[in-house]
Amino acid sequence: MKPSKPVILTGVRANNDIHIGNYFGAILPIVDMAKRRSSDFDINLFIPDLHSFTTPIDHSKLYDSILNNARIYTAAGLPLDNEAIHLYRQSRVPAHSELAWILDCFTGFGEMGRMTQFKDKSHKFLDEIDSKIHLPTSRQKAQDIVHTGISVGLFNYPVLMAADILLYGATYVPVGDDQTQHLEFTRDISERMNRKFGDLFIVPKPVAQQHQFFGNDQGLRIKDLMNPAKKMSKSDDSGKGVIFLGDEPEAAHKKIMSATTDSLGKVQYDRDNQPGISNLLEVLTLVRQDAGKDVSLEQTISEYAGMERYGDFKRIVADEVAEFLANFQARLAAVDDQAIESKLESSEHDMNIVANETLHRVQTAVGLRR
Ligand code: TYM
Repeated sequence: MKPSKPVILTGVRANNDIHIGNYFGAILPIVDMAKRRSSDFDINLFIPDLHSFTTPIDHSKLYDSILNNARIYTAAGLPLDNEAIHLYRQSRVPAHSELAWILDCFTGFGEMGRMTQFKDKSHKFLDEIDSKIHLPTSRQKAQDIVHTGISVGLFNYPVLMAADILLYGATYVPVGDDQTQHLEFTRDISERMNRKFGDLFIVPKPVAQQHQFFGNDQGLRIKDLMNPAKKMSKSDDSGKGVIFLGDEPEAAHKKIMSATTDSLGKVQYDRDNQPGISNLLEVLTLVRQDAGKDVSLEQTISEYAGMERYGDFKRIVADEVAEFLANFQARLAAVDDQAIESKLESSEHDMNIVANETLHRVQTAVGLRR
């Protein structure tokens, strides 16, 4: 099965801790895009399960969280019976790892070292280690933490990401700004390989064109509740600033009630001076939209403009977020796992054919095959 149409491809890591930033910033827009574009494009939604342990995780939970990732797409409205939409696990298409190795050998060490996500994550890890290493811990254990915490996998995972994209000749890759550098790298490595070996890969469109194509959806950034200067992120350790899709509604309610605000004492949308309140206005709009209400951010802003008691405003947001979670969790519980398993299997069958074709072309070009 060769895709006859251009390809849109994207993925959300499976770590069992998908939060409302991923959901509203990526999953919902992806599902919406898949529904709208599937007549003109092949839509590849894959679960980057090999990317799940670039940083240490609890492996006993991984298998479930991979399936949960597919269940979340389904609960968000992904039509499993649409044949132009392919839902598959990265690890079930071995060509991903094989192409990644080949691309590794054409990637500069310095090129990877410059990736900001690597720098951020590894620095964060080192800071954590600094605090842990003082605890009474065995020398061996301390060494294990230090040696495997910042893995080679974390370092060169953008190469695997490039393989994910290039195997299928994807032209459009809808992702948030935090992935822009990785997308640029995918363009660089594909152009480099094309120069050296002839036209091997379809080069994804430049990021600016991608933004134009997908509109504003991709710019959305839900912020951390405790520190609204930074985006809501899975790797936040306290979890207090992050609302996970699996949070108990009451726990999420508490998190919103203790969200950081400001001392200006007036509800207004001002990202620079009132990032916390602005973030809550966005979250409120999104959960209302999810409940089927036809509201825009502007309408929410004017509804609460000038309100002075932050506690009251937070309670409104907290109530509606808790309601959203309860509804979402009910939808998730109702998902048909059998339908998911069979969708995964049929997509994986088809994607192995497409991916192997590209892999063989590359293997021939580098001299591994005739
Ligand atoms: P990941 O799993 O970290 O994030 C998945 C998507 O969610 C977006 N995102 C957000 N959007 C809005 N607000 C937030 N607070 C927020 N946090 C995350 C991310 O920008 C992303 O679009 N490397 C990728 C997964 C991947 C991939 C690929 C994506 C692997 N291979 C190939 C596309 C193509 C990642 O770690 O995303």
